[in-house]
Amino acid sequence: MRKPVMAGNWKMNKTRDEALEFIYAVSDKLPSASQLDSIICAPAIILRDLVKRKGDNLKIGAQNVHFAESGAYTGEISPMMLTSTGVEYVILGHSERRAYFNETDETVNLKIKAALANNLKPIVCCGESLEERESNATHDVLDRQINKAFEGIEGKDLENIIIAYEPIWAIGTGKVASAEMADEACGYIRSLIAKLYCPHCAEEIRILYGGSVSTKSVSELMAQPNIDGGLVGGASLKSDSFIELCHKAI
Ligand code: PGA
Repeated sequence: MRKPVMAGNWKMNKTRDEALEFIYAVSDKLPSASQLDSIICAPAIILRDLVKRKGDNLKIGAQNVHFAESGAYTGEISPMMLTSTGVEYVILGHSERRAYFNETDETVNLKIKAALANNLKPIVCCGESLEERESNATHDVLDRQINKAFEGIEGKDLENIIIAYEPIWAIGTGKVASAEMADEACGYIRSLIAKLYCPHCAEEIRILYGGSVSTKSVSELMAQPNIDGGLVGGASLKSDSFIELCHKAI
C-alpha cells in the first residue's frame, strides 16, 4: 500500500509572518504522519523557521535547488544548504521553472542526483502543454521527461522519490484534468517506471496529480488507482483549505 501524499506548493507567496500564521493554524489539525505525508513546499528564505515550528504531522520542502555543491552561482542555493535547514523534500522540474528559469530535462536529472546525495527527497514534476496534449504528444513528452529525469538513478533510490504529473494547461487555470485523464497519465508514468526498473518498483512509487486541485476535486482524483496524492498550488495557501485537502486525501 502506498501512503498518500498532500503537498502544498506555495510558489512565491507568503511573507514570514503569513507563513508562521499558517503553520500554527494547521498544527494539530492534520492527519497523523502514519496516515498521510502532509508537505508544505515554501520559499527558501522561510524554510528554517517552518522546520523549527511545524508539528510532527507536517513535513517541509523547498521548491528548487542547484545541482552544484558550492561555487560561483550568485543567488542560488546548494543541496547541502537546504539539508542544513532540516527540510526533507524538494520540488524539481516544476513547469514554471522549466518555462521561466531555463530548467531542462538535463538539469532536472542533475538536481535529482544532487538532492538524493544530500538526503533530500525529490518531488519530480512532469507534464505536457495544451498544444502537446491536443496533438496527442502527451506520452512522448512523458517518455522524454521521465527517461531523462531517471537517467543514472538507481532502483534503491526510488523509495525516496515522488513523481508529480502536472499538465501545464491545468496549472493555475482552474481547468482540472478529468480524473480519468489524470489517472491515465499517472498510469502511463507507472508503466515507464516498470520498464526502467521493475514492476514492483512501479507498484511502490508514489505519483501525484497537480493542476487546479481543489477541495471539490480532490476526492475524485484520490479515488483513482494510479493517483497517490496531490501537488497543490492555489488551494494550499489557506490553512482551512489545506487541512480539508489533507483529510480528504486519506
Ligand atoms: P495550482 O498549482 O494548484 O494552483 O494549479 C499546482 C502547481 O503548480 O503545483
